[in-house]
Amino acid sequence: MAYVNFDTSKLGKFVHENELGEMQAMVNAADEQLRKGTGAGSDFRDWLDLPTNYDHEEFDRIKQAAAKIRKDSKFLIAIGIGGSYLGAQMAIDVLHNNFYTRNQDDTQVIFAGNSLSSSYLSELLDYVGDADFSINVISKSGTTTEPAIAFRIFREKLVAKYGEKEANSRIYVTTDKKQGALKREADVNGWESFVILDGVGGRYSVLSPVGLLPIAVSGASIDDLMAGARDAQNELTDPDLTKNPAYQYAAYRNILYRKGFTTEILENYEPNLRMFAEWWKQLAGESEGKDQKGIYPSSANFTTDLHSLGQYIQEGLRNLFETVIKLDTPNADVTVPSAEKDLDGLGYLEGKSLDWVNTKAYEGVVLAHTDGGVPVMTVHIPDEKEYSLGYLIYFFEVGIAISGYLNGINPFNQPGVEAYKKNMFGLLGKPGFEEIGDELNKRL
Ligand code: PA5
Repeated sequence: MAYVNFDTSKLGKFVHENELGEMQAMVNAADEQLRKGTGAGSDFRDWLDLPTNYDHEEFDRIKQAAAKIRKDSKFLIAIGIGGSYLGAQMAIDVLHNNFYTRNQDDTQVIFAGNSLSSSYLSELLDYVGDADFSINVISKSGTTTEPAIAFRIFREKLVAKYGEKEANSRIYVTTDKKQGALKREADVNGWESFVILDGVGGRYSVLSPVGLLPIAVSGASIDDLMAGARDAQNELTDPDLTKNPAYQYAAYRNILYRKGFTTEILENYEPNLRMFAEWWKQLAGESEGKDQKGIYPSSANFTTDLHSLGQYIQEGLRNLFETVIKLDTPNADVTVPSAEKDLDGLGYLEGKSLDWVNTKAYEGVVLAHTDGGVPVMTVHIPDEKEYSLGYLIYFFEVGIAISGYLNGINPFNQPGVEAYKKNMFGLLGKPGFEEIGDELNKRL
């Protein structure tokens, strides 16, 4: 029995009851591609074992580094982009209350190097001001432009504040074991380093040091996170579609996609799950969007976006399906208070819990959207604790990997990400890209 409850009970109008079973042979083939490494991209499957087969000495070093940073730094500047930051930011948002950084004296993890916005970086430099801080620079290739620039800027600030020697003790590097500019710099300067395994792609790296160090610095338990993922790893292996909800998720996505439901909206009813969707969008989009096909991953935050996107979802182009992440037990609940006079007309809700109201909204939306021609599936999670999140992360990683194989693509490469980089380097005048730059400048 899997820990998350995957509810497909409202799909009946869109998927005939035979259809899931008819996917079994394809799912078996996809499972073999993933588990036996017979599919494309097989060198990038080490994430499958991360919850059980990881470097324990390094895991302890992560905890020690986190304890030191929590002691000596008001801020950890976590520098990375794409898979090198989304998972950590997502986990920190999910695992802490919405206002933790404003209320507590804790070390605040702030993300940088995930855009080229000059305003963001200069405002962040001001925000950090004279406070104590450390840096975790995260880049598998060690050469990505956005984090490289942010690192240079924050390193300069670090050295200016502490001098070269102490600055070096406040820089933590997460990168490739052997290669890349960052690895070279780390070796020269003696920075504490953590390894991103060759076989773990960026979007599958949250349960590696990429995610674990910032998450540990936030005060969350990475032991519990890994425990949830470990149980998911053990439970979500059976290719039998009646027993494996992650595989069911992949199969239903494929069935819906082939019926023309080409956009999936990942939804939540909790503001601190917003980043979960951002992490999932990279996981799904980068894994599946290739060879001129793939489900387009998008997201919506409810009930907020029911007042903006709700109209489109209810009555717009009918190519949408929804996957809801529904939290079954909130961290805290509040009750609608009674009022002497019912001038606001809310008397019928007096004494009801806000979470009950939220759940009724969810139920109403599922039925309305289903009636409007939008298939809805729900992944229920019991709470927003580390164990549940670890399980959920693994659920989606496996589900998307199987989904990619079902759609006949390599779920582990990302050739399309390079196109913009070549152009940007050409236009920036990077050595080696001059010809591309000349060509592009003529077209601008
Ligand atoms: O998933 C991926 O591979 C990408 O999104 C990368 O994570 C992103 O481009 C950052 O790359 P790097 O970690 O090499 O700096």
